[in-house]
Amino acid sequence: MLLLHLSDVDEASWAEKLRAALAPYPVVRQGDAFDPKDIRYIFVWKPKPGAFDGLTNLKAILSLGAGVDALLKHPRLPDVPVVRFVDEDLSQRMSDYVVAHVTMHQRLYSRFRAAQLARRWDQLYPPAASQTSVGIMGMGVLGQDAVARLKPQGFALRSWSRTPKAIEGVEGFAGTEQFDAFLAGTDILVNLLPLTPETTGILNYQTFAKLRRGGLHGGPVIINAARGGHQREADIVRALGDGTLGAASLDVFETEPLPQESPLWAIENCYITPHIAAISSETAGVAYYAGIIAAHEAGKPLINVVDRTRGY
Ligand code: NDP
Ligand code: OXD
Repeated sequence: MLLLHLSDVDEASWAEKLRAALAPYPVVRQGDAFDPKDIRYIFVWKPKPGAFDGLTNLKAILSLGAGVDALLKHPRLPDVPVVRFVDEDLSQRMSDYVVAHVTMHQRLYSRFRAAQLARRWDQLYPPAASQTSVGIMGMGVLGQDAVARLKPQGFALRSWSRTPKAIEGVEGFAGTEQFDAFLAGTDILVNLLPLTPETTGILNYQTFAKLRRGGLHGGPVIINAARGGHQREADIVRALGDGTLGAASLDVFETEPLPQESPLWAIENCYITPHIAAISSETAGVAYYAGIIAAHEAGKPLINVVDRTRGY
């Protein structure tokens, strides 16, 4: 039996589609009558403290999100495999966001927007894509998709990951010892890391000060589409104010929703979106998790299982 425990999304709609995809396999929701001992799988998003209580025969936890940082912090997380969402549709959506914001900054959008508001005909030629270096932190599912889509546009690409990666046309850097060298050649820094103790607060003033200067008019740029815990917002405000950063695109925040009193709202060259870079679509999610349950029930191993000691 599959139990749904989804907060802040339309759980009824997911249940209806999962029932159709898995029939006759039973699917129940929180509040339905069922024996917790019959639950083999639980599909979760933002689980409440008691979400896993009594589920003594659980075989796997299925995460609606690709990122599992919050789930791994659950105080009563059972010791069973956690499967995360990995899907082409999600990757495409994230790459859409990354490509749009990288291109916007490479074409000096902030500069021309300011000139327009001042009714100023101020010609300044943006650098070619090949002269603009895009550094992607995190070379997993999403990072690799992003470089594949940025490559045909001609950007100079570099990546930073925990272990070395050899990707054609991408200069690879790995580990803390190569972090500074990675930053020193980067004009546009894109964050697609998972949130772990090692990556918490990595987007800080010190990091920003190490980015390449002179590549982009107005200063280097950061794009964070991973987790708010990666960024120090006070440092972003300071860096945008003193020119250490030329602009920032932020989809995620230390506190979500971003509080009304945050100074980020009012900064012109800070581009805010409300954690929508890449959603897990119902159609894709239902096909993915129905497939995972069917395969596992047929004796096949689970895929995309999170390494709990690594934290992603
Ligand atoms: P993956 O697990 O596939 O990739 C993670 C990458 O980060 C790997 O390359 C890994 O290195 C690298 N990494 C992890 N720890 C470190 C470290 N300490 N130092 C350097 N590199 C490190 O994750 P995904 O690509 O699928 O997703 C990334 C994140 O994107 C998610 O965790 C989630 O937080 C976020 N996300 C945000 C969404 C949004 O709408 N804003 C939507 C979906 C996801 P290695 O390859 O060596 O293991
Ligand atoms: C995710 C997210 O991790 O939506 O999938 O942030």
